[in-house]
Amino acid sequence: MSFVARSASQSIRAASRRAPRAVLKAARVPPQTASFSLLARTPAVHQSTSRGTRGIKTLDFAGTKEVVYERSDWPLARLQEYFKNDTLALIGYGSQGHGQGLNARDNGLNVIVGVRKDGESWKQAVEDGWIPGETLFPIEEAINRGTVIMNLLSDAAQSQTWPQIEPLITKGKTLYFSHGFSVVYKEDTKVVPPRDVDVILVAPKGSGRTVRTLFKEGRGINSSVAVFQDVTGKAKEKAIAIGVAIGSGYMYETTFEKEVYSDLYGERGVLMGAIQGLFLAQYQVLRKNGHTPSEAFNETVEEATQSLYPLIGEKGMDYMYNACSTTARRGALDWAPVFEKANVPVFEQLYESVKNGTETRKSLEFNGRSTYRDDLQKELDVINNQEIWRTGKVVRSLRPDHKPE
Ligand SMILES: NC(=O)c1ccc[n+]([C@@H]2O[C@H](COP(=O)([O-])OP(=O)(O)OC[C@H]3O[C@@H](n4cnc5c(N)ncnc54)[C@H](OP(=O)(O)O)[C@@H]3O)[C@@H](O)[C@H]2O)c1
Repeated sequence: MSFVARSASQSIRAASRRAPRAVLKAARVPPQTASFSLLARTPAVHQSTSRGTRGIKTLDFAGTKEVVYERSDWPLARLQEYFKNDTLALIGYGSQGHGQGLNARDNGLNVIVGVRKDGESWKQAVEDGWIPGETLFPIEEAINRGTVIMNLLSDAAQSQTWPQIEPLITKGKTLYFSHGFSVVYKEDTKVVPPRDVDVILVAPKGSGRTVRTLFKEGRGINSSVAVFQDVTGKAKEKAIAIGVAIGSGYMYETTFEKEVYSDLYGERGVLMGAIQGLFLAQYQVLRKNGHTPSEAFNETVEEATQSLYPLIGEKGMDYMYNACSTTARRGALDWAPVFEKANVPVFEQLYESVKNGTETRKSLEFNGRSTYRDDLQKELDVINNQEIWRTGKVVRSLRPDHKPE
């Protein structure tokens, strides 16, 4: 293991010396850009645009045809015209509320925010320029004023507040989510939308902070889009338009169920849970074998995040392998199937735990506590105090372009 890692490190350093400028530049480009630029630059192999319906493209994703919707098909003027009679009422102003709300506002749409009076989010919303009594209201009032009710409360709060919210979702309004959670796990959440409203979803594939920063940079987050209930016959078009309004670059189609399964699975897996587990496991073995924290961190995290993963984001796994030494490549090719085999059963177990609602029930219980913020902080403090991440702070401080955290 350490041999593989060390070889990779040496080869990257060597590759850096040899690498064409494009490769080095690629390493600094965030992965999010990559998927867009890839989509934009690669001519769609089997692309067709349905006559009369702008924005629908069928692309060939490695042999499977999928429909995607792009922002470029919704110029600002069209977007503003589409929503000219609507008020988008953002309920909740956490990570997604902040990103989606500010983007839609900057796109010139009529947006209001509804949150608990004088809570953390209320203060944050005021700081972001939402004006109490004009664009910032208590939750119930915002729902009454809105035509599109964007439920961006935390998933646990969506369930807790549903008895108060449900009667306010009257005919003619549209109910919007950014996660299939509440609706799909209705046995646990008790969230059953009224039968006479459109129920739609746009789920940005990233944190609300990224939704905002990408938008400000003129880029866009990838999102999935789904319709749960189509009363007006226009639910899908509305969902796509809102997706554009909140800053999506392109959207792929899903269902509420598929969205929530893949999302809960992904974040518990490689996006967050598995990556922390793998980093820790690799680091611990290095440390047990006498490697210094510096070496263990560099060979586990720093090289991954600063050098290799951006290459994957830019041009794929084969590209990253090609940028490394023959020694590193050989070892990685041999060990990848070992990790795959060891991990498939864990991922199967995880998927089942998502599908049968175990993950949902745990999340509702934990995030429904009145002490959820403090309880979470205690667990995050444990991570923050792990040697690996304490070492990380020192390593980051040594980066030539370091800015104090
Ligand atoms: N974060 C992501 O990366 C992400 C990505 C894609 C989709 N989503 C989905 O987007 C939705 C919003 O997620 P988020 O991460 O933005 O949520 P969040 O940051 O956890 O937002 C929490 C919001 O819920 C409010 N809230 C919490 N408990 C409440 C209660 N009992 N009564 C009233 N308000 C309460 C908070 O207000 P106070 O400040 O007053 O407590 C705050 O405005 C969720 O469905 C989530 O799954 C999230």
